[in-house]
Amino acid sequence: SMAKAKTIFYCQNCGTQSATWIGKCHNCGEWNTYVEEVVQSATGSKKQSLLTQSQPIRISEIDNTLSLQRLHSGIEEINRVLGGGIVPGSIVLLGGEPGIGKSTLLLQLALSLPPSMTILYVSGEESEIQLKMRAERLKQKNNNCYIVNETNTQNIFQHIDSLHPHLIIIDSIQTLQTNTIESSAGSISQIRETTAELQRFAKSTSTPVFLIGHITKDGTLAGPKVLEHMVDVVLQFEGDRNYGYRIVRAIKNRFGSVSEIGIFEMQQSGLREVPNPSEILISQHSDEVNGIAIAATIEGLRPFLIETQSLVSPAVYGNPQRSSTGFDLRRLSMLLAVLEKKCGLKLNAKDVFLNITGGIHIDDPAADLAIV
Ligand code: TYD
Ligand code: MG
Repeated sequence: SMAKAKTIFYCQNCGTQSATWIGKCHNCGEWNTYVEEVVQSATGSKKQSLLTQSQPIRISEIDNTLSLQRLHSGIEEINRVLGGGIVPGSIVLLGGEPGIGKSTLLLQLALSLPPSMTILYVSGEESEIQLKMRAERLKQKNNNCYIVNETNTQNIFQHIDSLHPHLIIIDSIQTLQTNTIESSAGSISQIRETTAELQRFAKSTSTPVFLIGHITKDGTLAGPKVLEHMVDVVLQFEGDRNYGYRIVRAIKNRFGSVSEIGIFEMQQSGLREVPNPSEILISQHSDEVNGIAIAATIEGLRPFLIETQSLVSPAVYGNPQRSSTGFDLRRLSMLLAVLEKKCGLKLNAKDVFLNITGGIHIDDPAADLAIV
C-alpha cells in the first residue's frame, strides 16, 4: 500500500496539537478550530533530494549571472510586463476570469519560444485534442512544445524528469493534486502544497513556471489570493467582454515594476499584440466632431493617447444627471464645479455624460484637460 502522509490537527486558535480531529479544544475551549496539516509528506525523502544543502556565502561571491539572463518570449507585451523577459526559476501566476483568454495567451507564449527550447504544457482542464485545436487556430508551430493531460504532481514531476523542459505551464493550479495531501483539488491546502512543490522545483533547477489561476468576477475564490504571496510575479488578465482587447497588468513583480501593462486584441487566430494602444483607444473620425477631445496619458513607461467623449444637454427632469464611464464621477463633478465657478459656464442645469473610448479606466490627472 502507498505510504501515507503524516498529519497533525492544530487548533487554529491556540496552536494545541491533536492526533485526531476534535470538535472542542480542551486547551482554549473554542469549537471547530482544528485543521489537519501535513507535517511529513509520503514522499518526504524525494522532496529532500530536491533541496540542496544550504551554505552561507559572501554576498560578493554569489553568482547571479544565470538569473540576469532573462528569457525573451516571442511576445513583446509579455516581456514588457515581466520587466524585460522571463526570469529563470521564477514562478509567475496569471490570474483572470474564466473565458478571458489565459490558456490562449500561455499556449501562444509557449509556441512563440525558439524551437531549441522544450516546453511542457500541463493541462488539467482540457484534452490534448482541445489543445491541438487551439494551437491550430493560433497558426504557430513549435515542435518542442509538449502537452500532457495530468493533474497529479508526482506524475508531473516524473514527466519533468524525463523531458527536462526549459519552461513549464500549469493550466490550472486549481486542478492540481499532490499525494501528500488528502483534500480535494482546488482546496486551499492542495493549492498551497502543489505550488510549494513547483516552487522548490523552479528554484532548485532555475526553470521558470507559469501558473494559471481562475478568479471569479467578485474575486471570491480564495485560492489565487493565497497564492499571491507564494509566487514571484502576479499578472492579472482583464478585459471587457464587449470589446476585443485584453490587458495584462502586473500586480506584483519581484523583478520589475508593477505599473507596466501589455495590451492585446482577441482575434480569430488568437491574441494580437497592440504595441500602439492609441490605435484601439481612439475612434476614427474623418472630420471634427463636437464633444470629442484627445488626451495624452501614461501607463508604466509608455505614453499613449486616449479619447474623451462628452455630451452636455439641458436637464429636463429637475436634478441634472452626471454620468461617467472610465473616469471618476466625483472628479468629474469637481471639474464641472471649477468650470461653473471660475469660467462662468452655466452647467448646473445641464446633464453631463462622459465616456473614455475603448472601455479603459483613466485616473491620470492629465486627462482632466481634455475633459474640460
Ligand atoms: P481561453 O484561452 O480558453 O480562456 P481561459 O483559459 O481564460 O478560460 O479563451 C477564451 C475565449 O477566447 C473563447 O471564448 C474563445 C476565444 N478565442 C478567440 O476568440 N480566438 C482564438 O484564436 C482563440 C484560441 C480563442
Ligand atoms: Mg483555460
